[in-house]
Amino acid sequence: MEKFNIAIDGPAAAGKSTVARLVAKQLGFVYVDTGAMYRAVTWKALQSGISPERKEQLSRMASELRIELLPGEQSQQVLLDGGDVTDLIRSAMVNKNVSAVSAIPEIRRLLVAKQQEMAQAKGVVMDGRDIGTHVLPDAELKIFLTASVKERAQRRFLEMKAKGEDVTLGQLEKEIAERDKMDEQREASPLVQAEDAVLVDTSGMSIPQVAERILELAKSAASKG
Ligand code: DC
Repeated sequence: MEKFNIAIDGPAAAGKSTVARLVAKQLGFVYVDTGAMYRAVTWKALQSGISPERKEQLSRMASELRIELLPGEQSQQVLLDGGDVTDLIRSAMVNKNVSAVSAIPEIRRLLVAKQQEMAQAKGVVMDGRDIGTHVLPDAELKIFLTASVKERAQRRFLEMKAKGEDVTLGQLEKEIAERDKMDEQREASPLVQAEDAVLVDTSGMSIPQVAERILELAKSAASKG
C-alpha cells in the first residue's frame, strides 16, 4: 500500500494509542503518540519544580528539550534528552498536570512543528487531540475515536491496577470527565472532531474490532488516493 497519513483524535482513554499502534504495525507505518510528547514536557516541568502557571519559563524549558519517540515492542519508547521516561510519563502526577501544560500555546507551537516534521515523509499513524484539525489537516484519513466516560474509566482502571497503582474507579471517572472538559474548553486547539473525520464509538467494541474497522477505512482511503 502506498504511504499516507492517518490522524486519530479523541478524548482521554478512548483506546487511541493501542489501536493506532496496531493499525501502524499492520500497515507498516510509523506510530506517533503526540500525547507522550505533552506528557514528557509535563514530567520535566514537575521534575524541575516549574509550575504550569509559569508559562514563559516552561516554554523556554520545552524549547531546549530533546524528545525522541522510538518504536518498541509493547509501546513506543520515549526518550527525554537521551533518558528513558516511557513509564514515568504515565504517573498520576503527570495525568493531573498534563492538561494545564498542553493548554499553553507556545508549548503547542513547539510540539506541533515537531509532529509535522515527523509526518513529512508520510506513512504515519498519529494520535492526539488536534491531529486532524491542526497538525495534519491534509491527512488522507481522519478518525475521531470515542467511548462513554464510564467505559473509558473502566479501561484505565484495569490498566492502572495491573501496574499496581492505587486508584478507584470513581476517582478515575471524575478525572477523565475533568480532563475531557479541559481539553474541550481550552482556547488553543481544543479537542473537537474535524469535519471530515469518521466518528468511531468504541463502547462495547474490542481493540481488534476497532483496529479492523480503521484498517477497512484505510484501505478505502488508499484506493481513493
Ligand atoms: O493521549 P494522552 O492522554 O496521553 O494525552 C495527554 C494530554 O495531552 C491530554 O490531556 C491532552 C493533551 N494532548 C493534546 O493537547 N494534544 C495532543 N495532540 C495530544 C495530547
